[in-house]
Amino acid sequence: MAHHVTLVPGDGIGPEVAEAAQRVVEAAGVEVEWDVQEAGAAVLEREGSPLPDRVLRSIERTRTALKGPVTTPVGSGFRSVNVTLRQELDLFAAVRPALSLPGVATRHGAVDLVVIRENTEDLYAGVEFERGSPALERLRVELRALAGFEIAQDAGVTVKPISVTGTHRIVRFAFDFARRNDRRTVTVGHKANIMKFSDGIFLFTAAMDAFGYPDIEFRELQVDEMAMHLALEPETLDVLLLPNLYGDIISDLCAGLVGGLGLVPGANLGWEFAVFEPVHGSAPDIAGKGYANPTAMILSAAMMLTHLRETAAAQAVRRAVDAVLAEGSVRTRDIGGSSSTSEMSDAVSRAARALLEGRGVTP
Ligand code: NAI
Ligand code: MG
Repeated sequence: MAHHVTLVPGDGIGPEVAEAAQRVVEAAGVEVEWDVQEAGAAVLEREGSPLPDRVLRSIERTRTALKGPVTTPVGSGFRSVNVTLRQELDLFAAVRPALSLPGVATRHGAVDLVVIRENTEDLYAGVEFERGSPALERLRVELRALAGFEIAQDAGVTVKPISVTGTHRIVRFAFDFARRNDRRTVTVGHKANIMKFSDGIFLFTAAMDAFGYPDIEFRELQVDEMAMHLALEPETLDVLLLPNLYGDIISDLCAGLVGGLGLVPGANLGWEFAVFEPVHGSAPDIAGKGYANPTAMILSAAMMLTHLRETAAAQAVRRAVDAVLAEGSVRTRDIGGSSSTSEMSDAVSRAARALLEGRGVTP
């Protein structure tokens, strides 16, 4: 029976890498009925919102989406499509594995990290007060009266809520993930020494919940220290558990460790829905040129196949990516080659088909 999946191609390089991933899924022999739903800048012009309701309704129907990146204009009135989607569907956990790939030159040999990022709270919760607005003026007065806090007249303010409830579920998710995937350690990144009442909740809730998982080692690092360890000795870290903003930053750092944004997949998961998307953005600098690296999107599709219990196909896609990268004649510019997006997806499709048919891989 065919799986029903919502496809959000996105904008910038989104449609290019989305098509590449669709072709690989087809080559892996998995029948998918794609419900294609456009979102982003062009849709904003046509429909008045960059994330029309029909996109959310589609994902509520299919429960599963594969999504390309969507551009977020800096400082404009509209909230990020990505942040809105994660909040509307309560996709509270982002999972981003950063794994060294064969044939991709990097500073560190054996990187095998998984970033688990809380996806709904923290400074990305969307609680913002615009500089000079009447609401912020009231807030300034309140804060002064409450505790003598002085907010500068010309400041804008973003609020950082982190709750015990919101932290519990991501901590349990991270430890359960570690258990299911034979991981040994979960390291929490925080600044609880500075932000006692927000990061403090995150750290102490994690430390308490960790007692329920005696088989998994719990560690904690200040997030700046974590960044240093990642740059110096990433092989000493395993699963990284982070609040929203740090998780965003550390994900890109981890992508850099394994060869760049073109290679790292991701999943946004909640109790009910799952949206798979690469870590990278819409890369406007190379959009439309046909040489974006589709690997991150293809590996995101592989994560989706695992989620849909198409284990053999998922495995074949991952091994096909490895085989093509190891062989080395087909590679995109971001990792030192000159191949196009479609040459890469063709090579991976051929290799996946060969693996599933029990033939050797000849990319
Ligand atoms: P970006 O990830 O789009 O690009 C950063 C750099 O990496 C660029 O030089 C780009 O060419 C390169 N790059 C990214 N993906 C690549 C790929 N697959 N192949 C080859 N090179 C690749 O980050 P940037 O420029 O900060 O953001 C651009 C737009 O994307 C912004 O509007 C941002 O808000 C949005 N964005 C959307 C995300 C999403 O939809 N989940 C995630 C991150 C950013
Ligand atoms: Mg990011």
